[in-house]
Amino acid sequence: MTFDSEQKALITKINKLKKAKNAIILAHNYQRPEIYEIADFIGDSLELCKAAEKTNAKIILFCGVNFMAESAAILNPDKKVIVPYLDAGCAMADMVTARGLKEFKKKHPKAAVVCYVNSSADVKAEADILCTSSNAVRVVKSLKEKEIIFVPDKNLADYVQKQVPNKKIIPWEGFCPVHHSLTKEYLMDVKKSYPKAKILAHPECRPEVLKMADHISSTSGMIGCARADKAKEFFVLTECGMTERLMRELPDKKFYGLCNMCFDMKKNTLPAVLDCLQTEKPVVRVDKKVALKAGKAFDRMFKVL
Ligand code: 13P
Ligand code: SF4
Repeated sequence: MTFDSEQKALITKINKLKKAKNAIILAHNYQRPEIYEIADFIGDSLELCKAAEKTNAKIILFCGVNFMAESAAILNPDKKVIVPYLDAGCAMADMVTARGLKEFKKKHPKAAVVCYVNSSADVKAEADILCTSSNAVRVVKSLKEKEIIFVPDKNLADYVQKQVPNKKIIPWEGFCPVHHSLTKEYLMDVKKSYPKAKILAHPECRPEVLKMADHISSTSGMIGCARADKAKEFFVLTECGMTERLMRELPDKKFYGLCNMCFDMKKNTLPAVLDCLQTEKPVVRVDKKVALKAGKAFDRMFKVL
């Protein structure tokens, strides 16, 4: 990836300033390529949670979407967590509310509640345990309960159900529009156009799409799958930014992708990051009681790893 002189100057300025302020920049794999250049750590949701939990930095500047920055704030109550845009949301996370989940729990009183991290802090606080796309199967297997409420992603819930058939997964009917819009017919066309390419798919995709994939994994997991697979070409079924990330990690292989963008993930730009770092604003705040409850659900997840 090449950058123009303005971008290069911004990258240098941000990298200097973050050191001076003892700040760490955490970036999700879907961020713009220029954001990778100022990140101390790039990863999937689970890796970012772990990085946020471990850091000694005074300030965490999060380049991702809100639920990720909230997670960093829950895991670091004594640190300042800042983001360029407080309104960078996640459409799937917005499909479930704490009130809705409370009602759902009443209908299934024996079920344990597993909550995908793509959810608000309020919703996490209603869960018994959290999971990410890379550990959802392990998390569900670790529970003694036979019935599991799984929120908010119905596609990830279906994927888990197939891996853990001895449990009854009760899904919330949420989905990610970026992944759910990919149909079986679309994938059939892809396979015709790219006959040599192996298919890498995120478990937020529809079940019928996952059935046709060669590898199913979290965003960072895709790097390992593509590295281990002898194939030279891959078609990537997830948000389009992942193709950039894969090309950066494995320049000797070819990655094809789609134009399906998560606009909230792409809000962050270098000027916005610089402004956020200079002003140390806006700060991500989570209500203390909510953070305490959600923190317990995080702790249970970390014990499973
Ligand atoms: P990962 O945890 O696999 O990075 O997924 C996060 C996400 O938002 C996928 O759309
Ligand atoms: Fe949410 Fe989908 Fe965007 Fe991921 S890609 S942050 S699940 S809207």
